[in-house]
Amino acid sequence: ALLRSPVPDLSFHRGNPVQCSSLPLSSMDCSSSKETPPHKAWWTGETVAVVTGANRGIGHALAARLAEHGLSVVLTARDEARGAAAAAELRARGLPSVRFRRLDVTDPASVAAFASWIRDHVGGLDILVNNAGVSFNEIDTNSVEHAETVLKTNFYGAKMLIEALLPLFRRSSGTSRILNLSSQLGLLNVSDHAVK
Ligand SMILES: NC(=O)c1ccc[n+]([C@@H]2O[C@H](COP(=O)([O-])OP(=O)(O)OC[C@H]3O[C@@H](n4cnc5c(N)ncnc54)[C@H](OP(=O)(O)O)[C@@H]3O)[C@@H](O)[C@H]2O)c1
Repeated sequence: ALLRSPVPDLSFHRGNPVQCSSLPLSSMDCSSSKETPPHKAWWTGETVAVVTGANRGIGHALAARLAEHGLSVVLTARDEARGAAAAAELRARGLPSVRFRRLDVTDPASVAAFASWIRDHVGGLDILVNNAGVSFNEIDTNSVEHAETVLKTNFYGAKMLIEALLPLFRRSSGTSRILNLSSQLGLLNVSDHAVK
């Protein structure tokens, strides 16, 4: 889970199980949260979590869950209207710590503008959830064009955002973390004969 207990398990299982991985900013626990609750939460209301592609789906649920547990959440979406509406819906649910900022993870200008805003108006961040992603699930509808879009969004988008935001992480071995969402289809096992 992204947050250890008492935050409920955030792991997701539908279709291909979502994998979670982290950069070595800290030891991130990707296991189920069925563990003894800590005496004290490691986050506070000052802890800033950025969630990409959070106007719907898993990203929206993660933004809601983080806000429910008292973190300051920056909900991002590539579409201004959809993102603003999604954030407003969470605030209307009694989660005032949610604010919206537009971010298209495939657009270098958008990523740069977002990083500047985080630096100038938020003062840094503690948690980045790279959730924004696209997929073309019907295998027979895949094409080179789709592959380019998938790689540009799911891999290079997350990479570009990490590179832009890494200098803005507040230095805390206990709080800083990056969560990358993927599927098993994103795993390459070099010991796999099919890959060889
Ligand atoms: N659901 C599953 O079974 C499953 C399985 C394996 C992996 N995953 C991964 O889990 C993550 C979330 O999945 P989901 O089912 O919640 O997906 P989803 O419902 O399709 O939502 C994807 C989100 O990513 C946003 N997005 C797409 N391209 C973007 C871009 N260039 N910049 C910013 N945002 C962008 C979408 O925005 P728009 O609304 O504007 O399109 C949407 O908010 C994805 O990374 C996905 O690959 C999901």
